[in-house]
Amino acid sequence: MPVMHIPGHEHQRPREVSLAEIEDVLGNCHRCPLGDTRTNIVFGVGDPNARVMFIGEGPGRNEDLQGEPFVGAAGHKLDSLLSIAGLTRQQIYIANVVKCRPPSNRNPQPGEIEACSPFLREQIRSVWPDVLVCLGNFATQFVLRTDKGVTHLRGRLYQTGHFVVAPTFHPAACIYHSDWQPLLEQDLAMVGAWLREHPRDGAAQPGTTPAAPAAPEGPKEE
Ligand code: URA
Repeated sequence: MPVMHIPGHEHQRPREVSLAEIEDVLGNCHRCPLGDTRTNIVFGVGDPNARVMFIGEGPGRNEDLQGEPFVGAAGHKLDSLLSIAGLTRQQIYIANVVKCRPPSNRNPQPGEIEACSPFLREQIRSVWPDVLVCLGNFATQFVLRTDKGVTHLRGRLYQTGHFVVAPTFHPAACIYHSDWQPLLEQDLAMVGAWLREHPRDGAAQPGTTPAAPAAPEGPKEE
């Protein structure tokens, strides 16, 4: 994936570029055909210094209308589960792999992901969270650079470069597959445990061990 140049930044070190600068470069984007059918670009929302960033697939109908991620049924489901990780919506940052709604909620296509993902990459570098929670296959495959499905990857944490990665089911999928919800809850509990064991300001609490073994795929972020 090409590294996107943000005007005014020579090196674009982690946390150097603001989310507003990235959104400026995105502009009134028509880099892929989704730009022709969307109502609003859904850039992302939340704490720009969040420890945890959630990554979804792409906006649905409500998100397209409101310009904000996870405000529809999947968002309500996510909100109801965040406390399992000891988190609130105000403490996290949420973005999607593609920033415009695929028509009829179809899957984003490879060319659309290719066009949009440099923006997600820059958002990740701007927020520079400790943990990336990947909701569903598209986010998981982008972050872990794998073709494997989330069903096989979930249930453990991965270390990729700076980030601890938690692949898990998409909350929308759990609306239809209610038997997946306990697994999503387990994954969020694992994220909560990791956060407690790794306070932001430094070392792990006594008696804890690193919970993030090496990722099977190469790191996305160096
Ligand atoms: N599903 C997603 O993947 N993202 C949203 O923003 C909403 C639903």
